[in-house]
Amino acid sequence: MRKIHGQLIEDFRADEASRRIAAALGYDRIRVYPRGSEWVRIELLIGDPLDGEVPAPLAGRGLSVSDVEITIARDELGNPLRQSWVEGPHVCIQGATRSGKSVWCYSALAQLARLDDVLIAGSDLSGLLLGRPYVGTRHHEWQATGSADVEAHRDLLVRLVAEMDTRIRNLPPRRDKFTRFHAGFPLIVVVLEEFAGLLRLASTAPVEKGQPKMREQLLALYGRLVSEDTRRACG
Ligand SMILES: Nc1ncnc2c1ncn2[C@@H]1O[C@H](COP(=O)(O)OP(=O)(O)O)[C@@H](O)[C@H]1O
Ligand SMILES: [Mg+2]
Repeated sequence: MRKIHGQLIEDFRADEASRRIAAALGYDRIRVYPRGSEWVRIELLIGDPLDGEVPAPLAGRGLSVSDVEITIARDELGNPLRQSWVEGPHVCIQGATRSGKSVWCYSALAQLARLDDVLIAGSDLSGLLLGRPYVGTRHHEWQATGSADVEAHRDLLVRLVAEMDTRIRNLPPRRDKFTRFHAGFPLIVVVLEEFAGLLRLASTAPVEKGQPKMREQLLALYGRLVSEDTRRACG
């Protein structure tokens, strides 16, 4: 398709524009590529790559997080999108209730938890994402679950911050992150499921005399984890 003067590739790719072009051409979706300075190439796509079950492939056991990529999504052609977790930034999963956030987390964590050099740690008020599936595994003692004991969640975050501080102290000179892990020094994936709910619960929790409010303590620990981490992800 020839561009008219002043048009950019973004004009074709914008959500509404691409839906209009697809509808006009009688297809479900389009993909737009640049073609020289005057043209764009439009690929016409039919079918929904998410129509039907999409299993997450599990890596073989005994592999290192440095050697595998985690499947996180599917593109519009149905090809898997993969992400190395060693390079992984923080992961923030956002969406309306029942949009699939927790199920996405099950899928990502199932792929990560079986790697020898990954530790799945964190807090989960619901006790569905963390907790029960991990009973009897090395991950379990790094997880706080349920709503009965807010202090247990606080104490777990304190432990994680302490571990982070130890690791920061042990960073090799002129390095600002770790990139190699092993079973004795795992990449720690910190999962914060239903953290907003934990904060709500904490707003009425009693604290020891002279201590900041529980909600403030949790927010301070969370702030340290997300701003100073040396290679970990939090969802
Ligand atoms: N990828 C998916 N494919 C099919 N069904 C899904 C998918 N993700 C979630 N669901 C279904 O949608 C419902 C809500 O998902 P859930 O992950 O609990 O949402 P959230 O955590 O965002 O509230 C669940 O019953 C789940 O079975
Ligand atoms: Mg959920």
